[in-house]
This record gives sequence, structure tokens and C-alpha cells, in this order.
Amino acid sequence: MRVLVTGGQGCIGAWIVKQLLDQSIEVVTYDLNPDPNRLALVASRKEMSRIEFHIGSIEDTHHVKKLVRDRGNPHCASCWRVNSVLPGQSGKGSIG
Ligand SMILES: NC(=O)c1ccc[n+]([C@@H]2O[C@H](COP(=O)([O-])OP(=O)(O)OC[C@H]3O[C@@H](n4cnc5c(N)ncnc54)[C@H](O)[C@@H]3O)[C@@H](O)[C@H]2O)c1
Repeated sequence: MRVLVTGGQGCIGAWIVKQLLDQSIEVVTYDLNPDPNRLALVASRKEMSRIEFHIGSIEDTHHVKKLVRDRGNPHCASCWRVNSVLPGQSGKGSIG
């Protein structure tokens, strides 16, 4: 299984990524922030090498949908204000 974690460089996102890696799940992150420092606080160098990083905004729905489609990801959102940038979506669930 592979999971796309938006906001994966953030506090909640980094811990979600770590939990997924611990369960041997492949992780794809998508975040505005290109800096993986926060993730590096919770994941080992070896674990970090298993993460596929993508940089961009969740507001770029074309990019997000393309990632979901091309990478076959279930989606897990941990971005700031996901609801406000995706009007009409209920909760912080799948946008695919
Ligand atoms: N930290 C908590 O204790 C806590 C508790 C309850 C709810 N939440 C909610 O969880 C969510 C995440 O919280 P957090 O503490 O991890 O925040 P955070 O600021 O540490 O992480 C948010 C991440 O989302 C990224 N991001 C922001 N806007 C983006 C965009 N448009 N596109 C892509 N990436 C974007 C940021 O770069 C950052 O890495 C927030 O909605 C917050 O309100 C947090």
C-alpha cells in the first residue's frame, strides 16, 4: 500500500508519516515546504530514504489529483486549513 500525506512536513504530518513507515507502508509526501527537517526529527535516515517527496500547494488541485491518479494513493491530509482551500469538501479526507 502507498499513502499520500499532504502537509507531510508538518508536525502532525511527520508523525503520520512515521507511523506509516513503521507499518512498512510506502509514503508519498506533498507539502509547500521543501525542508524535511521536521521529518528528520522523527524518522531515521534509512526511513527518510523510503519517502517520496513532492513539493507544491494543495491549492493546486490539478497537481494533487495527478499525484493521486498516477501514484495510486489513498490520501491523508494534514495541511493547515485544508477545508478552507478545498471548499465543498467535508472534513479532511480524500480529495481524489
Ligand atoms: N498540532 C496539533 O496539536 C493539532 C491538533 C489538532 C488539529 N491540528 C490540525 O492539524 C493540521 C496540521 O497541524 P500541524 O500542527 O501539523 O501544522 P504544521 O504547521 O506543523 O504543518 C502543516 C503543514 O502543512 C503544510 N502546508 C500548509 N499549507 C499548505 C498548502 N497549501 N499546500 C501544501 N502544504 C501546505 C505546511 O508547510 C506544513 O508542513 C492543522 O489543520 C491543525 O489545525 C493540529
